[in-house]
Amino acid sequence: MRVKNKVTLITGAGSGIGKETALLFAKEGAKLVLTDVAVDAVQETEKEVKELGAEAISIKHDVSKEEDWQKAVEKAVDQFGTIDVLFNNAGIYIIKPITELELDTWNKLMAINVTGTFLGMKHVLPVMQKQNSGSIINASSVAGLRGAPGHALYGASKGAVRIMTKDVAMEVARQQIRVNSIHPGYIDTQMADYGAEQQGTTTEELGEDYPLGRLGKRSEVAKTVLFLASDDSSYTTGAEFPVDGGATSSL
Ligand SMILES: NC(=O)c1ccc[n+]([C@@H]2O[C@H](COP(=O)([O-])OP(=O)(O)OC[C@H]3O[C@@H](n4cnc5c(N)ncnc54)[C@H](O)[C@@H]3O)[C@@H](O)[C@H]2O)c1
Repeated sequence: MRVKNKVTLITGAGSGIGKETALLFAKEGAKLVLTDVAVDAVQETEKEVKELGAEAISIKHDVSKEEDWQKAVEKAVDQFGTIDVLFNNAGIYIIKPITELELDTWNKLMAINVTGTFLGMKHVLPVMQKQNSGSIINASSVAGLRGAPGHALYGASKGAVRIMTKDVAMEVARQQIRVNSIHPGYIDTQMADYGAEQQGTTTEELGEDYPLGRLGKRSEVAKTVLFLASDDSSYTTGAEFPVDGGATSSL
């Protein structure tokens, strides 16, 4: 019960890492505010966490829209009184050579990955500031730490999430609010399937390139998020956590 009674808002909770984190947090005692643009998917996550005994609500929420954030935060506070943990997880992944990248595609991805993370912190922080505590975890990527062909757009978005995390961590540190980023390598979700397909390979082959010789599991990312959300990481802020099988440490 490492996050017992901690009110936790997870974006993109309808699938992949967000859903897995919701299920783990349910077992660890959290009260859950689950959001996603994919309404059926997030309602299914709500059903599954309730079956595990957690209190939860689900909300249709596009993270790139400010009015959706206002409504989501309002609903969370109405239901549970506060927000203790924010996992800015929702994101999309597009691989394309820079010369073929349309401006619309650039703006769409930036609106979700970067603006969505900014808006989440902007609207949740006033709630955390009232109680002088809170933990925010932002989903960046190994692509926010190093370069790869076709990754100018996604990498720029995740690099922005990385440094925005550190800036905001410095801004709110004296209010005892911690802000950290996670940097997964390829993890066993639909994003890795897309990555393999775009690069003309398989997820197994992608995994073999990692020092640990395999893809990451979504449960391994969820456990890192749990550590950062819980009081176990009480002296950690502005930090970046690769969950990448050693990829960013290899030549
Ligand atoms: N899976 C990986 O290999 C990997 C690696 C590094 C980083 N990440 C990051 O982890 C996070 C989760 O990735 P995942 O693999 O679980 O992806 P996923 O595609 O399985 O899940 C992403 C979820 O975000 C939701 N979403 C998309 N656009 C949204 C929007 N505008 N508003 C609200 N929700 C929206 C989707 O509906 C989906 O449920 C992302 O930020 C991703 O960039 C993933």
